Amino acid sequence: MKNIRELPLSGKRLFLRVDFNVPLDAGRVTDATRIRETLPTIRWACEAGARVVCASHLGKPKGKRNEKYSLAPVAIELAREMSRPVRFVDDCVGEEVERTVASLADGDVLLLENLRFHAGEESNDPEFSQQLASFADSYVDDAFGAAHRAHASVVGVPRLLREKGAGLLMEKEVRELSKLLDPARPFAAILGGAKISGKIETLRALARSADLLLIGGGMANHFVSALGLSVGRSLLDPESVPLAREILDFCKKEGKAIALPSDFVVAKSPEDASGARTVGIAKIPDDLMTLDIGQKTLEQFQRLLEPAGTVFWNGPMGVFERPPFDRGTRALAVLLADSKAVTVVGGGESVAAVHAAGVADRFTHVSTGGGASLEFIANGTLPGLEALK
Ligand code: 3PG
Ligand code: MG
Repeated sequence: MKNIRELPLSGKRLFLRVDFNVPLDAGRVTDATRIRETLPTIRWACEAGARVVCASHLGKPKGKRNEKYSLAPVAIELAREMSRPVRFVDDCVGEEVERTVASLADGDVLLLENLRFHAGEESNDPEFSQQLASFADSYVDDAFGAAHRAHASVVGVPRLLREKGAGLLMEKEVRELSKLLDPARPFAAILGGAKISGKIETLRALARSADLLLIGGGMANHFVSALGLSVGRSLLDPESVPLAREILDFCKKEGKAIALPSDFVVAKSPEDASGARTVGIAKIPDDLMTLDIGQKTLEQFQRLLEPAGTVFWNGPMGVFERPPFDRGTRALAVLLADSKAVTVVGGGESVAAVHAAGVADRFTHVSTGGGASLEFIANGTLPGLEALK
C-alpha cells in the first residue's frame, strides 16, 4: 500500500476521501477534530501542487438531498482551519462538479457536497463510482473513520484509479491501531454506546482477542436483559438480546472475563434528571431507564483495569451529551488517562468525552474512527485499506 508521499501529485486532480462527518449544531461545526486531523494531508497535497478535490459523507441522509446534512458549513470551517479559501460545489457528481474541477489551479482545494445524497454511495454502485472517478487522476484515502464502509468512494473509486494511496491520517491510525493486534497483555476492551446491532461480529472477534471485556452504555442493557433481568424503560433493541446472550455464552465457554455494570444511574428520561438515583443491576425500576453507570461500577472497572497492559475504549458509558449523565464517561476518561497501560480510545462520543475531560494528550492514541477502529482491531484490516492495495 502506497502513501500520499509516494504519489506524483503536481498538476494532478486528486480525489481525496476525507471523513468530515463532524457534529453540527444550527449550521456550525461543534467539534472540528476530524477536520484538523486531516489538515496535514490536505496541506501536503496542496504544497505538492495537486488540485485537491475533497469528498466526504455527513450523517445518514439515505441517498436523498437533505440540507440538514449539507457539507457547506464544513467548507467554511475547513477554510478557517486552513486560513485560505476553500471552494464548495453543491453536488458531488454531474456537470457543475466537472466544470468546477476543470477550473481548479494547482494547489486549490475544493469540497464536494455530501456523497450520501446519492444512493449509489452506500450501495457501492459501479456507475456512481465511475462518475466520481471520471474527474480525478489519482485517489488518496484519509477517511479512516469511514474505512470500514465498503461504499463507492471508499472501495469503488480506488479500484478505478491506478495512482492511489493512504493519506497521512490514515497512515497514523493504521500504525497506532496495529499495536493492538499484538497487544501488551492483559488486553482489556471497554465497549459502550447505544447500539449493539451491527457490532456483533466485531464483539465476537474482540471477545476472542481481548482478555477482558467491560460493557457499559446502552449496550449494557442488552446484556442485562439477556441475563433475564428487567431494564425498565431503558433503550433496548429486543432483537439484539439473543446476540448479547451469545456473547455471554461465548465468553463463558472460552473462559474470558466479561464485566457488566453492577449499578446504574436511572431516571425518567435523558431530559428529566429530577429523581435520578443509583440502583443495582437487579433493581432497575419498571418506569425508569438506565442513563449512566454508577459509582460502584466505576470502582469495579478501576479494579479490573488495574493490571491491564493495553486498554481499548469505544463508546460512552451513558447519555454523555446530557449532564449529569456524562459523569461515568468522564470519570472513565480520567481513570484511563491515569493508567500506565497503552490506552487507545476511538469513536465520536468517547473521544469527545476525553477532550471534554481535558485528558486527550494522556492517551497513547485518540482515534478519529469509532466503528472503524473497532473493526480494525477485530479483523486486522478494513475494506478501505484493502482497496488501496
Ligand atoms: C463515523 O462517524 O463513525 C464515520 O464517519 C462513519 O459514519 P457512519 O457510521 O454513518 O457510516
Ligand atoms: Mg459512527
